[in-house]
Amino acid sequence: MRALILGASGGIGGALADTLRTRGAEVVGLSRRHDGFDLTDEASVARVAAGLAGPFDLIVNATGALQIGADRPEKTLAAVTAPAMAAQFALNATGVALALRYFTPLMPRAGRSVFASLSARVGSIGDNRLGGWISYRAAKAAQNQILRTAAIEIARTRPEAIVVALHPGTVATGLSAPYAGRHPTITPERSAQALLAVIDRLTPAETGSFWDWKGSPVEW
Ligand SMILES: NC(=O)c1ccc[n+]([C@@H]2O[C@H](COP(=O)([O-])OP(=O)(O)OC[C@H]3O[C@@H](n4cnc5c(N)ncnc54)[C@H](OP(=O)(O)O)[C@@H]3O)[C@@H](O)[C@H]2O)c1
Repeated sequence: MRALILGASGGIGGALADTLRTRGAEVVGLSRRHDGFDLTDEASVARVAAGLAGPFDLIVNATGALQIGADRPEKTLAAVTAPAMAAQFALNATGVALALRYFTPLMPRAGRSVFASLSARVGSIGDNRLGGWISYRAAKAAQNQILRTAAIEIARTRPEAIVVALHPGTVATGLSAPYAGRHPTITPERSAQALLAVIDRLTPAETGSFWDWKGSPVEW
């Protein structure tokens, strides 16, 4: 098994890479801080992808951000700014479309393969009861639509490929630390093991779907 982890320097991405290696997989990890792989810069994505040799049976996009620069997630509409919302979309939505464009050609044409992207339950429109965090929520909702649309197209050339959105749980990482508050968290290792168990059970009939770390479907 060969796996590619985008965002291997992150809390969950690092735990996914470690867990896969422990299982005996060959893992290629890419990150902004170690490889100059910036999902908001298409030329960087194209350059990094061109330097890789496939096929990869598993690609996980573990990049993402809740706070970008000084732009904290909004508590109210009055805090919305155009640049902060654009930055959220550049990473958490457009960036995922670029990852799909440049990395899914490295998946095998025949046989089971998985492209899983760490979305977030707060990107679910149907599940939104609290409000707030409008840019992050909207960018993750757009990511979900991008994944669903890509899944339909990719199934035409790779009938056993599975493209999914995953919610990793509330995980104790740098991303959640300022915002988790008293909300219970799980470790990145526990999240990684659970996410890989979910990925293991997925079938090609489930491409284009959204799952949480416990293996339950999440509504769009
Ligand atoms: N933690 C949670 O509770 C939680 C809950 C729901 C969903 N998620 C989702 O899970 C994913 C991973 O989160 P995490 O908690 O592991 O966060 P994290 O520890 O902050 O890791 C984020 C990763 O994204 C990378 N990244 C950020 N901006 C990038 C860019 N412009 N180009 C390329 N890579 C970039 C970081 O690279 P650098 O090391 O270079 O900064 C790092 O590898 C995110 O999509 C997040 O939205 C997390």
